Amino acid sequence: MALSVFTRVPLSNGLQIPILGLGTSCNGGYSHEAILHALNKCGVRHIDTAKRYGCEEQLGKAIKESEVPRSDIWLTNKLWPGDYGYEAAKKACLDSCSRMGVDYFDLYLMHWPESQQHGRSNREVRAETWRALQELNDQGVCHAIGVSNFLVPHLEQLKEDCSVVPHVNQVEYHVYQQPRQLVEYCRKEGIMFQGYCPLAKGQTLGDPTVLKLAEKYGRTPAQICIRWSIQKGIVTTPKSTKIERVRENCDVFGFQLEDLDMEELNQLHDGRHVSWDPTNVE
Ligand SMILES: NC(=O)c1ccc[n+]([C@@H]2O[C@H](COP(=O)([O-])OP(=O)(O)OC[C@H]3O[C@@H](n4cnc5c(N)ncnc54)[C@H](OP(=O)(O)O)[C@@H]3O)[C@@H](O)[C@H]2O)c1
Repeated sequence: MALSVFTRVPLSNGLQIPILGLGTSCNGGYSHEAILHALNKCGVRHIDTAKRYGCEEQLGKAIKESEVPRSDIWLTNKLWPGDYGYEAAKKACLDSCSRMGVDYFDLYLMHWPESQQHGRSNREVRAETWRALQELNDQGVCHAIGVSNFLVPHLEQLKEDCSVVPHVNQVEYHVYQQPRQLVEYCRKEGIMFQGYCPLAKGQTLGDPTVLKLAEKYGRTPAQICIRWSIQKGIVTTPKSTKIERVRENCDVFGFQLEDLDMEELNQLHDGRHVSWDPTNVE
């Protein structure tokens, strides 16, 4: 079936996440008008944020202002390691809900595998925090729960220590960073692999292969990179604070990359991280 802005990807708990969303972030600022444009003019129904990004209140206001019903929007938020631990995690989630003026998150993620608690192992704190997320999930405050920046060893430990497998693992993913083993592991374990930084924070936009394909398809480099991700079935959330770029980044459904071109983009992997690299986190 052809991809569209309405395409959703199923999670193991039966919920479905829109394949394309809008990122928000603390870097480069927050744009109220870009959020409103995405929701009201581009049909975006998936927004990714985090307490760490510092824009929860403004984003909550933008969602209300858009008049798109809350139930139509997939809203992801994240728990920062400073709030890890059983009680702290539950409080941080409820505080985030209240800052955003919402009753629930569609997806709530542990943002990073390293805890900031001295004298306790990351593994122990991750497991304790995960149990709080499970409870928030049971109570309906978080409709789905997951992790972010977790590698196979972190996921294996969580599997040994806890009963519920994360619904999602959100990880850096673009043509230069394709963690194939992790993608395969998540698929095997029923964890939906979600990508972030589809443009590698802009680094992929001047790549000769990307430029060549942009010319071939009469599209922009950003559209080629976003299309490559969603055509692989990988959910992604490009971020822009500029209305015209938000529109451009959503206009990725009227064309299809040929298999050979997909393969050429697959070959661009060089392992670089433009965000954080969790490799050394125990
Ligand atoms: N879970 C995590 O740890 C984690 C980490 C990083 C990011 N994320 C999520 O992923 C989202 C996206 O990541 P990101 O913002 O770091 O990287 P990105 O989406 O790969 O790139 C964003 C950068 O590219 C620019 N840009 C956007 N669209 C463009 C276009 N069409 N043409 C040219 N430049 C364009 C933006 O600038 P302008 O704003 O000026 O347009 C911004 O500087 C974040 O907002 C966040 O929601 C999650």
